Amino acid sequence: MKNVNPTPIESKALTKNFGNYCAVDSLSLTINAGELFGFLGPNGAGKTTTLQMLCGQIQPTSGTARVMGIDTASDPIAVKSAVGIVPEIEYPPSFLTVEEYLHFVASVRGLPESDSADMWIEFFGLEDRRDTLCMSLSKGQKKKVTLSAALLHKPGLLFMDEPFLDLDPLIQVKLRRWLLDYVKGGGTVFLCTHILELAEKLCTRVGIIDRGRLAAFGSISELKNGADESLEQVFRRLVLGQDGHDVEP
Ligand SMILES: Nc1ncnc2c1ncn2[C@@H]1O[C@H](COP(=O)(O)OP(=O)(O)O)[C@@H](O)[C@H]1O
Ligand SMILES: [Mg+2]
Repeated sequence: MKNVNPTPIESKALTKNFGNYCAVDSLSLTINAGELFGFLGPNGAGKTTTLQMLCGQIQPTSGTARVMGIDTASDPIAVKSAVGIVPEIEYPPSFLTVEEYLHFVASVRGLPESDSADMWIEFFGLEDRRDTLCMSLSKGQKKKVTLSAALLHKPGLLFMDEPFLDLDPLIQVKLRRWLLDYVKGGGTVFLCTHILELAEKLCTRVGIIDRGRLAAFGSISELKNGADESLEQVFRRLVLGQDGHDVEP
């Protein structure tokens, strides 16, 4: 695994406006090496927009972000080459086979072609789809190829936007275990999700974003109001201002 800056992610007053609409409002975050950080929030809260600013995919309106010590606004390409990014919706190119696409990504990243591609093809059980055009894959298989492409170069920092969507339960368990080993080995994960059970199982700390603003930040036990409160109740309390105790299942 590549050497990781002691502070993989640091943002200060990071803000994104789309016209008059403020999607992310003055977000300040520090994520440490070896953290599996869960970025939670309802639909439209600003999770994907934040991830895209941190990865250098879109420019912030104001504020700053440093990822592995690199300023994301002034050197977005360096950020993208250093980290692994699993976008929420991105399909591999239709007219390449699984193997061709992974070899292409490996060559762009200056890696020996086959080694790591083979490892991920095997990890995701895609051996018999190796020569299939990506356009002919199922949605879940496309997601597996996208994940493989993001992981090929063994990045020390991973940005993942709803990575478990479309994956079957068996591969979800396998990926969860892999992520836990990855952070044990010093890797860092910024995981956007609205699946609270997943955050509860995996994350060292979470941030809850609501309407572009950070509503809470800390370990799950720090966020809970007493031992019997579930993460869903924390979420309801912070996002909806409700006491979640009498909510129907
Ligand atoms: N390119 C864009 N132009 C205008 N509004 C956008 C754009 N991208 C996102 N938004 C808006 O910003 C808000 C946050 O979106 P997003 O970050 O995708 O939310 P989340 O990932 O938390 O569901 C939403 O209200 C969305 O409609
Ligand atoms: Mg999103």
